[in-house]
Amino acid sequence: MRKPVIAGNWKMYKSLGEAVETALALKPLVANANHCEVVIAPVFTAIKTVADRLEGSNIKVAGQDCSTEVEEGAHTGEVTASMLKDVGARYVIVGHSERRQIYCETDMSVSKKVKAALSDGLFVIMCVGESLEQREQGKAENVVAGQLNGGLNGLTAPDLDRIILAYEPVWAIGTGRTATPEQAQEMHAFIRRVFAERHSSGAADALRILYGGSVKPDNIAGLMSQPDIDGALVGGASLKADSFAQIVNYRS
Ligand code: PGA
Repeated sequence: MRKPVIAGNWKMYKSLGEAVETALALKPLVANANHCEVVIAPVFTAIKTVADRLEGSNIKVAGQDCSTEVEEGAHTGEVTASMLKDVGARYVIVGHSERRQIYCETDMSVSKKVKAALSDGLFVIMCVGESLEQREQGKAENVVAGQLNGGLNGLTAPDLDRIILAYEPVWAIGTGRTATPEQAQEMHAFIRRVFAERHSSGAADALRILYGGSVKPDNIAGLMSQPDIDGALVGGASLKADSFAQIVNYRS
């Protein structure tokens, strides 16, 4: 049985005070959610305080990105995975489409970040997904397979336990246009097949694949009813404690 992961990506939103307020409001609302792992990813400057205030709760904290570098050094503006761990993060999102598109991240840099995060013992949520143009040209599977092969390059069997994938079609992010459960399921099943071919069927069976892109309280149950959807990476609807809690508690 794969334990679902419901992760909230707060992107570049919320002051420290707002982040703490939302986290504390969320805490009692998801306290009984034993069916899944609950994760929130605040901006870097809020991670430490949010993680401290959530200590002992079932909500874990993630970074939204980390450096390709493992060691500290002269890299202005960068934060290593071990620095994230040091302030209480247990997960890190890597290769989000906004980083790929706006900050020119490549599969090569994503792969380095994945390795850096794994070497510091973090769980990695690696994002993949095609653009609308790529989908319309019938290239969605090729694009996603390329991102998987590039990002997961060089990993060994023990690394795989800490890899979580998120399929986020770019055309569904922040647009209100979700992939249908069937469209998402089709790609998730494809991702699991690619992973099985790359690694092993055992590792593919254990792999959590999250869906992301306009996940809301009213579409989460349909998505989660699909056999290869093991959770969600939620942007906009994770910013408010009550809507994120409704997504986490999709079963009740
Ligand atoms: P969205 O964002 O839920 O606002 O579409 C998802 C994401 O970017 O992870």
